[in-house]
Amino acid sequence: MKKTLKERAAAFFIDMGKRSRLLRPIAICGLAVSFLLCGFLDYLRRGTKRFACAVFILLCFMVGNSFAYPVFFKEAGAFSSGQESPAAVTVSEDSNIRLAATEEIALDDVPLLEDEDVWDAAYVDIEHQGMAEADILSSEDILAQNEDILNALEEQDKSEEEALQEEEESSPREFSPDDWKLVLVNKQHPIPDDYQVFLGTIRTTKGNEKCDERIIEDLLMMLQASRRDGVNLAVSSPYRDFNRQTYLFNRKINAYMSRGMSYMEAYSVSSQTVTVPGASEHQIGLALDIAADDYVSLDQGFADTDEGKWLAQHSYEYGFILRYPEGKEYITSIEYEPWHFRYVGREAAAVIYEEQITLEEFWDKYL
Ligand code: DAL
Ligand code: ZN
Repeated sequence: MKKTLKERAAAFFIDMGKRSRLLRPIAICGLAVSFLLCGFLDYLRRGTKRFACAVFILLCFMVGNSFAYPVFFKEAGAFSSGQESPAAVTVSEDSNIRLAATEEIALDDVPLLEDEDVWDAAYVDIEHQGMAEADILSSEDILAQNEDILNALEEQDKSEEEALQEEEESSPREFSPDDWKLVLVNKQHPIPDDYQVFLGTIRTTKGNEKCDERIIEDLLMMLQASRRDGVNLAVSSPYRDFNRQTYLFNRKINAYMSRGMSYMEAYSVSSQTVTVPGASEHQIGLALDIAADDYVSLDQGFADTDEGKWLAQHSYEYGFILRYPEGKEYITSIEYEPWHFRYVGREAAAVIYEEQITLEEFWDKYL
């Protein structure tokens, strides 16, 4: 009579155990495993439904695993499985501000897709990094359309203004954590539910954009000063509402997934260039992306343009800071963005500029 699979496996392992003492432990294990496996197969064979279920689960497992592999980046060697996750970061030794440890992927090897907020082409066209021309708000246009605000500023009593400035300069710098200008918004500090945005309008011939109304005067003064110095700034993407931020974030994720990343990997890399919805400074109207009339891409090359250099050097004089500096990514969790400027007020901006620190470090030291 033909032997069953179970009987043949048993005979094989018993024979192995008899032949060598050394192989006996392996034979015993083999015997146990083969009994279990055969028992399980018998169990499945006795019920067609059970068998179908098991095959289905196995198939799901295989399909799920095959989608999890980032084909493109695995081939490019961008992710190494041996890569250690960064430890939780503390801004300084006695810091109150702790940044959560995140499974962030090293940016060096990943071809980053830039902010390109106003670029509305299909996201699969990932080489396109510029903005649509219609969305570039040149400083010339903004200044012309908001002349009334600048005129009113000029008419203000100069002596009163100078006295105020002198008083500010002579008094020691004190900062309050309740100051609206200093609100800390990042992945670890999302926008509070009750945060009130005071939106004002930046008029242009191409339509109106919005940002916090309390920063418009300083913005206009900065644009005016930049033109006097011969640089042509262009504003893009001031205020974004939650939906807009979500749209940009999801589009970035899709762009990475279309290059072979899994959802989790795409999420991790995307959150280093576009802040997760609910935690972007654009959503509180205090941040602006600024490029140039003849350099409209929001990418790191902007730092080498006259406009990028001017902003890095002078924006603090008008209360703006370069929010995501190079070399501080471990604190901000955001890549170097020479185009993203955040309003913090002139006093704090001067401190941040002089000390070359981030807003997180400023909070840690002064608030
Ligand atoms: N690009 C900046 C980080 C933002 O999305 O807020
Ligand atoms: Zn930005």
